[in-house]
Amino acid sequence: MQTIYYDLRDTKGQQKEIEDKISAAAKILREGGLVAIPTETVYGLGANALEPAAVARIFEVKGRPQDNPLIIHVTGAQWLPRYCAEIPPIAYVLARKFWPGPLTMILKRQPLVPDATTAGLDTVGVRCPNHPVTLSIIREAGVPIAAPSANTSGRPSCTSAADVLEDVGGRIEGIVDGGPCAVGVESTVLDLTCEPPRLLRPGGLPVEDIERLIGHVDVDRAVHRMLEKGERPAAPGMKYRHYAPKAPVTVVAGAPAASAREIERRMGPASGIICFDEYLPLFAGHEVHPLGPCADKQIQAQRLFEALRTFDGTNVTEILAQCPDNRGLGLAIGNRLKKAAGFHVVEADSQRIILGLTGGTGAGKTSALDALRELGGSVIDCDAVYHEILTGSQEFQNAINEKFPGVFSPDGRLNRKKLGQEVFAKKDRLDQLNAIVFRFLVPELERRIQAIEGLCAVDAINLLESGLDRLCDCTVAVTAPTELRVKRIMARDGITEHYARLRINAQKQDEYYRGKCDCELNNASDSPELFRKDARLFFERLVESIREEKRIN
Ligand code: TXA
Ligand code: MG
Repeated sequence: MQTIYYDLRDTKGQQKEIEDKISAAAKILREGGLVAIPTETVYGLGANALEPAAVARIFEVKGRPQDNPLIIHVTGAQWLPRYCAEIPPIAYVLARKFWPGPLTMILKRQPLVPDATTAGLDTVGVRCPNHPVTLSIIREAGVPIAAPSANTSGRPSCTSAADVLEDVGGRIEGIVDGGPCAVGVESTVLDLTCEPPRLLRPGGLPVEDIERLIGHVDVDRAVHRMLEKGERPAAPGMKYRHYAPKAPVTVVAGAPAASAREIERRMGPASGIICFDEYLPLFAGHEVHPLGPCADKQIQAQRLFEALRTFDGTNVTEILAQCPDNRGLGLAIGNRLKKAAGFHVVEADSQRIILGLTGGTGAGKTSALDALRELGGSVIDCDAVYHEILTGSQEFQNAINEKFPGVFSPDGRLNRKKLGQEVFAKKDRLDQLNAIVFRFLVPELERRIQAIEGLCAVDAINLLESGLDRLCDCTVAVTAPTELRVKRIMARDGITEHYARLRINAQKQDEYYRGKCDCELNNASDSPELFRKDARLFFERLVESIREEKRIN
């Protein structure tokens, strides 16, 4: 069969030509043919969802097990009553906020939706994709479009038209190229036929975003682990081995620096590596696919399937993969990696929990650290370690002296005032100093962390800038209202209000820490004792949830 290729990557050009292509694709679909369509998540293999014969061909072309239902794609919530029954009001609340977008809602179906589409279930998955081309095609076709991911069954999903051609080219009527997929992992599947709603598949819409809108959501067990023999998942698709390259995959979980080290320890000459960009140099000479920067899950999601796919053209005999934590998009990325690995996951540093604490002066880090000590944790004060190596390491002193000549007095002591004057007025000089400090301090801190067992807290004002956050299982921003901070540091350091404000203003604001850390501990309390109690409870819960995450892995 010849597959017609419709290039719709650029929709700003000739309007008539674009409309013609959209009409042609819609016509094929209406008449029972198969067309691969772009969405913001992954490419879909589309067919008229109301036409059993067309839908049956999807299963045939993909080699998809018959008991795995398809989701239908619509252009908005106004289509829901036509295809779904007993729709709870919450479905409209979710649609208003998240559609078009990467959310699939499972609802009771109307009899109009054929068994072929729902695999005989009395429910149907509905989604409104956020891609202008595909929305136009569905609108013009006038029917809901059933579309599973366009890969052949078991392979990683397709995030480009080239991937689709590779998997199903020559076996379907058309491919619409709408460019690379912006999200890169499939939609989040949420079952609304139960109370509370249940997450069946993590995806492009983080479950935290859903919970912020509608409250608690249960997470199906199949999200975290391999199902036992005979166990039935709520989403039939979750039981199949998926996304798997030909070589076996091992996921190495844990804080990025620890998992990178663990991969280095395990790898052999024919190992392929999926790693965060920061660790590429460790794996020179290997087949490596960078997943993106540690801190950028959006890029990781975009690159994930391509990374899994491209190993198949190589000679690697095994794949070792780093994995983000479960927060935000990390839950979906980790789920796909772990499914690709058949849930073969090893945990780097499973006993140790490393928390990174940061935040401005007067926010309450000292009390927070006291609370951590009460819980049996060890605390590493980065400032103290800095001063230790400053007096102890000749190499470190030389490095500073080279860039800042004359800041050491003849007896070898650092003239802090002079260095301060040198860097605080000039940003590029401060950056130069920090680069030297981080180069010496981070490896030393890493050594000290390695020596600790159990709970460990790293206290660093420059936690994020130095890259220390990559050693941590979780980063915590300690924040407090400015007025309280002013009062506290006036009392603590015996300084005037004016000077206290100057100091606070010279530092980064709470917003900065809040935006960059994994979680926030806000200290709005007048009493240090009360705050320490709050902090203790906060850390107890946090440590418990990290332990749980490590256990699940
Ligand atoms: O992002 C996406 O959702 C992509 C694009 C093309 O829209 N589609 C997609 O479809 O990923 P598919 O078929 O590869 O995955 C749909 C998942 C499967 O795990 C399936 O078992 C589950 O949703 N599912 C579909 N209908 C269901 C239902 N009625 N009840 C429970 N799970 C259902
Ligand atoms: Mg799929």
